[in-house]
Amino acid sequence: MAKEKQVFFCQECGFESSKWMGQCPGCRAWNTFCEEKISVGTKKQSDRRAAIVPTSILEVVTADETRFSTGLEELNRVLGGGVVSGSLVLVGGDPGIGKSTILLQMCRNLSEAGHQILYVSGEESMSQIKMRAERIGSFTKDMLLLCVNNLEDVEEYVRKDKPKVIIIDSIQTIIVDDISSAPGSVSQVKEVTARLMQMAKQMNIAIFIVGHVTKEGTVAGPRNLEHMVDTVLYFEGDRNAGFRILRAVKNRFGSTNEIGVFEMAEKGLSEVNNPSKVMLDGRPQNTSGSVVVCSMEGTRPILLEIQALVCQTNFNLPRRTSVGIDYNRVNLLLAVLEKRVGLVLSGCDAYVNIAGGMRLDDPSADLGIVYALVSSFRNRPVDGGLVAFGEVGLSGEVRGVSAAEQRVNEAKKMGFTTCIVPKSNMDSIKKIEGIKVIGVSNLVQALEYI
Ligand code: TYD
Ligand code: MG
Repeated sequence: MAKEKQVFFCQECGFESSKWMGQCPGCRAWNTFCEEKISVGTKKQSDRRAAIVPTSILEVVTADETRFSTGLEELNRVLGGGVVSGSLVLVGGDPGIGKSTILLQMCRNLSEAGHQILYVSGEESMSQIKMRAERIGSFTKDMLLLCVNNLEDVEEYVRKDKPKVIIIDSIQTIIVDDISSAPGSVSQVKEVTARLMQMAKQMNIAIFIVGHVTKEGTVAGPRNLEHMVDTVLYFEGDRNAGFRILRAVKNRFGSTNEIGVFEMAEKGLSEVNNPSKVMLDGRPQNTSGSVVVCSMEGTRPILLEIQALVCQTNFNLPRRTSVGIDYNRVNLLLAVLEKRVGLVLSGCDAYVNIAGGMRLDDPSADLGIVYALVSSFRNRPVDGGLVAFGEVGLSGEVRGVSAAEQRVNEAKKMGFTTCIVPKSNMDSIKKIEGIKVIGVSNLVQALEYI
C-alpha cells in the first residue's frame, strides 16, 4: 500500500522541504511554505530496465511535425506557426484577462475545421460555457464539453475516444485522487501536469492548460510548471483597457518573444494587425514628456509612446515610479543624465509610463526614455514626427541595437519624419525616402536634436 509522507512546498517556486521554513531558500520569499501530504508508492524495480538501450542520433527517425492553424493569425504566430500535435501548452494570465475566451475561440475555429475538441472545465458549468460561446459564434457538434474536477475522468474518456485537442480550464481546479493535498497546491498541479504531458506525448493530442497567475506574477504555486510543458504563453495587459498581449515565454516549437495583440470586444477577442497604430492612438500633441520609441517584439517592430513627468519634489527623497518598464532602468538613466549631461534631477520626482498597457524589456527604449525625461524637465515638447531608439550606457554613450533598418521602416510606415538612431547603426540602414535618419554617439549629441 502507498504510504503518506508529509512535505512542505513553497507556493511561489515549488521548493520542497521536509520541514517548515519561514523563508524559502529557493526564491527568498517569506511565509510561502505550505504543508502537503503526498503518497509514496513502494516502487518495484522493473524488469524492463534491462531492455533499454540508447539509440544513435543518426538512426532516429523524425516524426513530421504536424501543425494545424488555430484560425487566429496572432495566436498562430505566438505558437510558432500553429498548434503542434502532441504538444503541451500552458496559457497563463491574471483572472479575467481572457484566457478562457481565446481558447474557446480557438476551439470554435478548430471544430469548424473538422477537428474533435474536448473542453474540460473545472470552473464553469456547461450553461456558463454555452452562454459565453454564444457571444463568440456558432459551434459544431465536434466541440465536446466536460465539467469535471478529476483528471481520472478525463483520462477515462480519452481512452475511449481520442480528441485532437484538449483544453484544461484551469489546472488549479483539476485534481488526481492519488494525492491528498488540495486542488491548486504544488504537488497536485505538478502531478496533473506530468500526467497530461504523458497523455499528450503518448496519444499525440495537443493539450492546452490554463493557469491563473497570482498577484506576484507567477502561475499560482507552480512556476515550476514552466519547465514541464513545451510552450508557455502569458496573457498580459490592463484588464480595464481593451488591449491584450499574448506573449510566448518559452516555445520548444518556435521563437520566443513573439507577441500577439488582441482587443477585447463584445464578441470575444479580435485580432489587432497593426499594433503600432493602436499603441499610438490618442497620443497628445505638443505636450512635453511624450516621445515615440520603436521596440522589437520578436520579429515585429512596434512603435510605443513613452511618457515622462518630472517635477520638483516635496520630499527629502525624490519619488521615482515606472509603469511598464523596469524601475531600476529609469533610475539608472536619471543618474546618467545627472552625471554625464549635468542636469540636476536629484531634486525632482520622476514618473515614467508606457502608454497602452505594454511592458517593455528592450533596452533600445533608453534613448526615448531619456528624451521624455529631458523634455518634461525642460517643459519643452519633442517634435511629434520624431522616433528615437538606442541603448544608453553608463558613460552616456548611445549603443547600437538590432534590426535598426526594420525599426526605421516601421517609423516611416507610420508617417514619422525623423529618426534618431545610434551612430553605429547608421551603416546598416539604407537611405529611405521620406524619413530623415540621424546618427548620434552620445547623450550630449543626442540632446541637441530636441
Ligand atoms: P475570461 O476569458 O473569462 O478570463 P479568464 O479565463 O482569463 O479568467 O475573460 C472574461 C472577461 O472578458 C470578462 O471580464 C468579460 C470579458 N468579455 C468580453 O468583454 N467580451 C466577450 O465577448 C467575452 C466572451 C468576454
Ligand atoms: Mg476562465
